[in-house]
Amino acid sequence: MKALILSGGKGTRLRPITHTSAKQLVPVANKPILFYTIEAVRDAGITDVGIIVGDTHQEIRAACGDGSRWGVKITYIQQEAPLGLAHAVKIAQDFIGDDTFVMYLGDNLIRDGITELVDRFRAEKPNSQILLAHVPNPGAFGVAELDGERIVRLVEKPKEPKSDLALVGVYMFDSTIFEAVNAIKPSWRGELEITDAIQYLVDTGRNVRAHIIKGWWKDTGKREDMLEANRIVLEDLETRIEGEVDAGSVLHGRVSIAKGTRVERSTIRGPVIIGENCVITDAYIGPFTSISDGCVITRCEIEHSIILEECRIEDLGVRMEDSLIGRNSCVRRCDTKPRAYRFMLGESSDVSVL
Ligand code: G1P
Repeated sequence: MKALILSGGKGTRLRPITHTSAKQLVPVANKPILFYTIEAVRDAGITDVGIIVGDTHQEIRAACGDGSRWGVKITYIQQEAPLGLAHAVKIAQDFIGDDTFVMYLGDNLIRDGITELVDRFRAEKPNSQILLAHVPNPGAFGVAELDGERIVRLVEKPKEPKSDLALVGVYMFDSTIFEAVNAIKPSWRGELEITDAIQYLVDTGRNVRAHIIKGWWKDTGKREDMLEANRIVLEDLETRIEGEVDAGSVLHGRVSIAKGTRVERSTIRGPVIIGENCVITDAYIGPFTSISDGCVITRCEIEHSIILEECRIEDLGVRMEDSLIGRNSCVRRCDTKPRAYRFMLGESSDVSVL
């Protein structure tokens, strides 16, 4: 069995972060989302991994390499344009050959992994196994209509969803899916939808199993979802202090501080993860915060946020929360007159001020 991980796409809902960076490489608890995917696939016993890449291919290749770090072999497959998930399957046909495979969207996180689901697919050998989850906002996903356990219909992002069962971004297929992706036509948004391809399998009498997952799952397309994913992953954080914490600082609960980082006269209330070579001074870092390498945080309070590498955050008079700060950004108080907000923001930035 092989794995096909999708790591193309434009990540429009995570702009401006994704103007310069692949959405699958945004970190959750200081680790790119895509790495959780590769680990889940590896843990399910799959070592032959294809990654579909698009415009951000250089960054993805640089981050994942040949896969040897995880004990897997990665083959990169270039998708010239984001023409849909079924199009991605189509261009992976040479890589997949006659094998069965699991297709995993590189921005999805499933807390319990996929090992059990892959084992079940291997044992029962249906043509396809899809995963469904009850969600409060089904219109944002592919939605399944079931009759008992039987799939009646799958619709991509319906205006009037017939159920609250969303298609999770992990699918298992045998090679009948290639017949399906070659038979369907592009949708109204010009994409070859995997939802339509699976519907084709259903309509042609193939054995498509639906499995409703109970554990936590997230499509990390938006800032709120990233923060929620960060919160869930940090729930399992283990304390590990490799940096220096001075006598004037207090750590509560589970806190991870990597080497080369200094914490001075600060309070850190876990779960919090801080990367390498940061300097945290006279600050409060509250629960569910992830701070990447090389950040400088001085005289401010930060909670429930993700801060990417090399940021500088200084002297904020008010607590910062629910924030996702892109690499190499600076947020600071400025006392020069006239008293004013001064911004240098990228396209699609989002700022809330007091
Ligand atoms: C895609 C699929 C959708 C599925 C979702 C899961 O949507 O098209 O059917 O429910 O992934 O994450 P997208 O994230 O591309 O909008």
